[in-house]
Amino acid sequence: MNLQPQTLLELSTSFAIPDRLGFALHPSGLVVGHAACQQGQGSFFLHGAHITHFQPARASHPLLFMSKESLFANDKAIRGGIPICFPWFGRSANPGEPAHGWARLANWQVASSNATDDSVTVVMETFQSPFHLRYFIRFGSDLTAEFTATNRSDRELTCEVALHTYFAIGDIDAVSVHGALEGLPYLDQLTGQMHPAAHQAIRFTEETDRVYQGVARTILLVDDAWKRTIEITSEGSRSTVVWNPWIAKSQRMADFGDEEYRSMVCIETANAKDCRIVLAPEGKSTTRVTLSLR
Ligand code: BG6
Repeated sequence: MNLQPQTLLELSTSFAIPDRLGFALHPSGLVVGHAACQQGQGSFFLHGAHITHFQPARASHPLLFMSKESLFANDKAIRGGIPICFPWFGRSANPGEPAHGWARLANWQVASSNATDDSVTVVMETFQSPFHLRYFIRFGSDLTAEFTATNRSDRELTCEVALHTYFAIGDIDAVSVHGALEGLPYLDQLTGQMHPAAHQAIRFTEETDRVYQGVARTILLVDDAWKRTIEITSEGSRSTVVWNPWIAKSQRMADFGDEEYRSMVCIETANAKDCRIVLAPEGKSTTRVTLSLR
């Protein structure tokens, strides 16, 4: 069951906050929310509860990458920002089901909003049996996204989640990933092989698609081109996906520019593969990520 879309009038009447939070129709017909405060600004779509923009006031560039080729349609995932992958990660075991689950394609509703001088918060929800999903977003000098899934059935369920964050970068040759991932083993999704911890920073010289296994509370994305470091802190996550499609896959993806692999890297706060979640009846699980400029 998909929830009925909220109208612009409903959203503007119940949740808009003067000078802080507004809603508009994107040219595609999808509804987009824009948040702004002294410390930063951001945007999100109700389609997929998809955050598409975040920029702290002191940043010269957005923290999130958005593809210029992204599609904006009810039955397609937005390419860039933070798609929510749930209740599975990657391909479904059942043919015909969408990659990365239904949450990024679902219609979400705004449940509440709030603002101070320093931040704007929005809570969105959706329900598709047997899962109730809640997404808390706070735009300020940092961006916090907190995803909670509740099992509304009377049986134990297994699921996966990824907050599939696309980071905007100056140039792929000038970035490196430091911190907790250096000490974790990873599954190379391209070969299916497990690798021991590399104990060195990650750099990108080819297609990269890895699931790091273990808790990685703090990760640093160091960008020597834009001379900035983004800190990624998480809670409730036991795996992290690192992805860059590189040249051939970029060319194969219809909704992604051939050269855009140079301007993005995905570092995804996840519970996937061997670190999937088991939810008891009425059990819930929360996965949180905060992105900040160092
Ligand atoms: C990553 C996966 O998380 O998402 C990749 O590890 C995948 O294998 C990528 O290609 C993009 O997936 P999609 O479904 O958004 O094209």
